[in-house]
Amino acid sequence: LPMTILMVCVAYLCGSLSSAVIICRLYGLPDPRTTGSQNPGATNVYRLGGRVPAALVLVMDILKGTIPVYCSYWLDIAPVYLGLVAIGACLGHIFPLYFGFKGGKAVATAFGAMLPVGLELAGLLIVSWFIGLFIWGYSSLAAILAVALAPLFTWFIKPDYTLPVAMLALLIIVRHKANIQRLLSGTEPRVWDKRGKLK
Ligand code: G3P
Repeated sequence: LPMTILMVCVAYLCGSLSSAVIICRLYGLPDPRTTGSQNPGATNVYRLGGRVPAALVLVMDILKGTIPVYCSYWLDIAPVYLGLVAIGACLGHIFPLYFGFKGGKAVATAFGAMLPVGLELAGLLIVSWFIGLFIWGYSSLAAILAVALAPLFTWFIKPDYTLPVAMLALLIIVRHKANIQRLLSGTEPRVWDKRGKLK
């Protein structure tokens, strides 16, 4: 248990590195927390600066989830507790210690944290996200779809991890409250409305 607590803290500290804010500073882009959807994530960085900075943010945010969970797995921490490490990384991303506790929605970080469950799950999530994106064009709705399916996929692949994955899914869906409101009012921008203004 002390090892689990330590790894949850490490995961929170990793998650707290707000990649979107760091990359935007490096690229001289506006602060993603105050521009566009005001969300420090890859989608908003894509709106502000295009593909390359967005891809960097995506990779860094994924690794923030993968590294602590994979290290914990390697340290023989039990599945339920790996879920806590994953949640720690996502809470770091959502409420970052070093960035005024104003973080993102943890889609990429949760995906990274789920990667150690297996490549089948990763593949199914990526396919679900792309199907959602091609049907609707909204990054947020695609993420909600993929995340909502994640517990079901996990139940088929590695049932032991269903509960932690379901907890992550719930956390992420709740974080998309503003997106859900925009989707319902028809004001959510599609991914191809790159610099679409958001109000
Ligand atoms: O990755 C977060 C995504 O689901 C929504 O981002 O910027 O459109 O609110 P955004």
